Amino acid sequence: MMSKKREVLAGIAGLVDAKLAQLSPVNEAWQPSDYVPDLTAPHWVEELTEFRKAALELPDDLLVVLVGTAVTEEALPSYQTSFNRLDAVRDATGADPGPWARWSRAWTAEENRHGDLLNRYLYLTGRVDMRSVEVTIQHLIRNGFDPGHDGDPYNGLVYTTLQEQATRLSHAKVGKLARQAGEKVLGQICNVIAGDEARHENAYRSFMGEVFERDPDGAVMALDAMLQKTITMPAKLMEDGSEHNIFACFSGVAQRLGVYTFTDYIQIIEEQLAVWNVAKLKQLSGPAAQAQERVCSLPHAYRRRAALYEKKLAQQPKVPFRWIQGRIT
Ligand SMILES: [Fe+2]
Ligand SMILES: [Fe+2]
Repeated sequence: MMSKKREVLAGIAGLVDAKLAQLSPVNEAWQPSDYVPDLTAPHWVEELTEFRKAALELPDDLLVVLVGTAVTEEALPSYQTSFNRLDAVRDATGADPGPWARWSRAWTAEENRHGDLLNRYLYLTGRVDMRSVEVTIQHLIRNGFDPGHDGDPYNGLVYTTLQEQATRLSHAKVGKLARQAGEKVLGQICNVIAGDEARHENAYRSFMGEVFERDPDGAVMALDAMLQKTITMPAKLMEDGSEHNIFACFSGVAQRLGVYTFTDYIQIIEEQLAVWNVAKLKQLSGPAAQAQERVCSLPHAYRRRAALYEKKLAQQPKVPFRWIQGRIT
């Protein structure tokens, strides 16, 4: 089975190259420095004062969600490791010249700016306990991340497509809430990050779309395998040194604020099912046809549970977060 997958993935190397060409050339790409005060500028004190004043507008719950997303982005080493566990697309040497390996490095290099920018923003605002944020990042990278793809490249592409979409939605939502609170700089920061996630989502979705064209049986079974496990969030093993399950607490706040909800997860699944035309796949083998039926019925089953699930999450007790100096939200 893996030789078929290898052949399919080698066959779409041209598309990978085309997507690589769509990424911004590095010398022209945005960098974190473009979005925070320039500390070498003659008027840096005034610039920084203005910047910090605007950040005072952010409410605690939004700060908590922002820290959670920053911590998630900062665990990038785990995501590159995860990609490099995928058969047939991994970067075998660390500087492999093949298109998949070049893609994985270019993607990582773009992603690296997200954690840097959010981290720097948080630091300069003076609104959060940076040490506690850093402790959380170190724990998360130590604890690791297992998306459950078992090294299967189709599983990995499915996971990453859904995950890029989830991060695009959540960054965009944080940006919107920041603008509503009167914090335009954070609004811009979240927009530019969400823009990257959108391009990545588009690339992974088209890679997987091509897999659906060339190997519909394998593709639908990978989609089923991943959705049956429920897509695990990359920062699930987050801990901040307190006795709380900080990931569950952060997810609860994100749910309450509408930054990322169970309904968003259902919509993501529905959208991908539609884009990949899963319901219309024909001439599938027996097991693949069963997988098709299962994945297509999933959104409906989830919708019936969504209200209850969201209510339960929204009722989660409010807890103190070390990230915001122990305040409760
Ligand atoms: Fe990112
Ligand atoms: Fe991403």
